[in-house]
Amino acid sequence: MKILVTGGAGYVGSNLVPKLLASGHKVRVLDNLMYNGYSLLPYFGDENFEFVKGDVLDADVVRKCTHDADIIIHLAAIVGYPACKKDPNLAKDVNVFGTRLVDKHRSKSQPVFYASTGSNYGALVGDICTEETPLNPLTIYGTTKTEAEQMLLDSGSVVCYRFATAFGLSPRMRLDLLINDFVYQAVKKRNLILYEKTYKRTFVHVRDMVRCFLFTIENYDKMENQVYNVGSNQLNYSKEEVALLIKEKIDFYLHFADIGKDEDQRNYEVSYEKISKLGFETSITVDQGIDELIRAYELIDIKNPFSNI
Ligand SMILES: NC(=O)c1ccc[n+]([C@@H]2O[C@H](COP(=O)([O-])OP(=O)(O)OC[C@H]3O[C@@H](n4cnc5c(N)ncnc54)[C@H](O)[C@@H]3O)[C@@H](O)[C@H]2O)c1
Repeated sequence: MKILVTGGAGYVGSNLVPKLLASGHKVRVLDNLMYNGYSLLPYFGDENFEFVKGDVLDADVVRKCTHDADIIIHLAAIVGYPACKKDPNLAKDVNVFGTRLVDKHRSKSQPVFYASTGSNYGALVGDICTEETPLNPLTIYGTTKTEAEQMLLDSGSVVCYRFATAFGLSPRMRLDLLINDFVYQAVKKRNLILYEKTYKRTFVHVRDMVRCFLFTIENYDKMENQVYNVGSNQLNYSKEEVALLIKEKIDFYLHFADIGKDEDQRNYEVSYEKISKLGFETSITVDQGIDELIRAYELIDIKNPFSNI
């Protein structure tokens, strides 16, 4: 199949593209390389790989990229609330209007797999979120992703994934993700100050996100026009539990603070029953992810080189 991956040079995309190529697909990436393009360098020699340096806000480029795609995996976005807060107008443009352009320049025979987010649930207290739970996003990231998700669902021929918070290694590394960040502080600074320690969060390894896209290619008929929480009931943790798990493996100073708060106030458990019933299960635990991160951080001086936040 011919697959267009927007934002394919990013944290998720640079794990996804090699797997799509290895599965025999032709892959076109559309990315404006906000964070540099090193992550995809190994694939420029592959005849099934094409890279288009361009913007999802450029209608001509989007039309050229979508015209012959069998599937569009739409990842391009300003991701996470710190990046969105830094440039709210850009976040609205890319996350909402960029998605609208992609939708406008495809036909209904070209399904879109949309990387939405659990941030759409926003502030919820004491609830276990299912796909039916009303959305209450609190940040620009959450509101723009929610708007784009609804727009695509209204349009049809789509699968939307409300991914948990990702963790794990990627050629375009993200240190703003909770587990990646906690392990980084523990390994590099031997110090972690933790606030809102009882807050519950839910996680998914970046390679399991990739597996979920591949799973959808095989199961699209069953998944069309549906929203799925993607993660695992086994990967719901409090922030304190994550920090203590890291502390079992590495010695660092862990300090619990009363001040400080996450702007999106995520504090919830998520149910993954819907996608589990279809046969998709995650394969990598938080414990394994922490081990992987420790091994890499101890050897490599990762300073979020491609991040502009
Ligand atoms: N990583 C996570 O925890 C997580 C969780 C849930 C959902 N998601 C979603 O998955 C998708 C990918 O996230 P990621 O972690 O890989 O983020 P990322 O920031 O690493 O990747 C985003 C990519 O989009 C590109 N991009 C940004 N603006 C663009 C534009 N105007 N035109 C073309 N390309 C543009 C960037 O250059 C980058 O390569 C996003 O839609 C995000 O909302 C990620």
